[in-house]
Amino acid sequence: MTTQTSVKVPSLKKVYENYFDIGAAVNLHTIVTQQPLLAQHFNSITAENDMKFENIQPLEGQFTFERADELAAFAKKNGMRMRGHTLVWHNQTPDWVFQDANGKQVDRETLLQRLKNHINVVMERYKGTIYCWDVVNEAVTDEGPELYRSTKWLEIIGEDYIEKAFEFAHEADPEALLFYNDYNESDPQKREKIYKLVKSLVDKGVPVHGVGLQAHWKLVNPSLEEIRTAIERYASLGLKLHLTELDVSVFNHEDKRTDLTEPTSEMLDLQAERYHQVFHLLREYQDSITSVTFWGAADDYTWLSDFPVKGRKNWPFLFDEKHQPKDSFWKVVQF
Ligand code: GLA
Repeated sequence: MTTQTSVKVPSLKKVYENYFDIGAAVNLHTIVTQQPLLAQHFNSITAENDMKFENIQPLEGQFTFERADELAAFAKKNGMRMRGHTLVWHNQTPDWVFQDANGKQVDRETLLQRLKNHINVVMERYKGTIYCWDVVNEAVTDEGPELYRSTKWLEIIGEDYIEKAFEFAHEADPEALLFYNDYNESDPQKREKIYKLVKSLVDKGVPVHGVGLQAHWKLVNPSLEEIRTAIERYASLGLKLHLTELDVSVFNHEDKRTDLTEPTSEMLDLQAERYHQVFHLLREYQDSITSVTFWGAADDYTWLSDFPVKGRKNWPFLFDEKHQPKDSFWKVVQF
C-alpha cells in the first residue's frame, strides 16, 4: 500500500468521533504551516510549550499570555477542544519561583502561595476554553525505590505539593478535568509507582479526574502487553485516561544513526504495523480512553528530531513531511 493518491483521505477525527478525541501538540509556527492538516484531522490541541510556567510567568507577577492566547484563539476558530499543559513541573520552571529577592530558597508557605496564584491566574484566563489540565507533570522517579522525583517542589513543600496543586486547580475552575501526566507510563516498575501515587490521591478524595499517558513510544518498546496492562491498571482507579503526547520513534534504543535523510522502508513498515496494533488496542479501551493526542502532527516537525540524539531527524507520525498520509495513517483508519 504505497500510492493512495486516487483514494480520498478520510478525516482522522471523523473516523474516531465515536471513540475519542484526536489531538496534536502545536506551536505558533505549526498552526500556520500545518493549518490545513490540523483542521482536517484533529479536534483537539495542546500547547507544546507556550503554557508552561517559564513561558507564562517568566518573572514574578509578569504574565505573558500572548502566545498561549493565540493558540487558544486557533482552537476556538477551528472548533477544537484544548488541553492545558502544564501547571506544575520540575522542568521549564523559572528559578525565581523557588527563591526570594536575595536568591535564598523560599519557605513552604511562600511557595504554596506562588503555586496557588499561578494556578488561579492561568486557569481563570482559560476558563471555558481549556476543558482539562495536566496539573502535575512527571512527579514520579524512573529508577530506584523512591516514589517521588526529587524536585524543588518536593524539597520545599513536601509530598503534599501534588494534592495541593490539584486542590488549587479545582478551586480555580471546578469544571475543569484535572490530570496527572507522566512518561514511561507503561514500564512495569514506573507504572506501579504512578498507580500508587494516583491511588493515594483518589483515596484521600483529592480532585483528580484522569491519568495522562504521555506515550512517547518506539517501534518495539513498550510491548503491547505492557501498554494493555498499564491501561487496565490506571483505568481500575475509575479515572479517565488520555494519551497526551503520542509519537512512535522509528529508532530503536540502540540505533544511534544520524545519517538517514529519510526513513527506511523497513522502519515505515514496522511503524505502520505498530500503529495498527496500538490503535486496535486503544479502540478496545474506548470506555476509558477519551482523548489521544500526538506530540505534533506531521513529520516535518517533531521534538524527536534532535532528541535524544543531536542532529538526527525522526519521522514519528501518521503524516509525512509533506503532510501526506503514510501507511501508518491507513492502518489507523482502516478497521
Ligand atoms: C515532556 C513534557 C512535554 C515536552 C516533552 C518534550 O514529555 O511533558 O511538555 O516537553 O517532554 O517535548
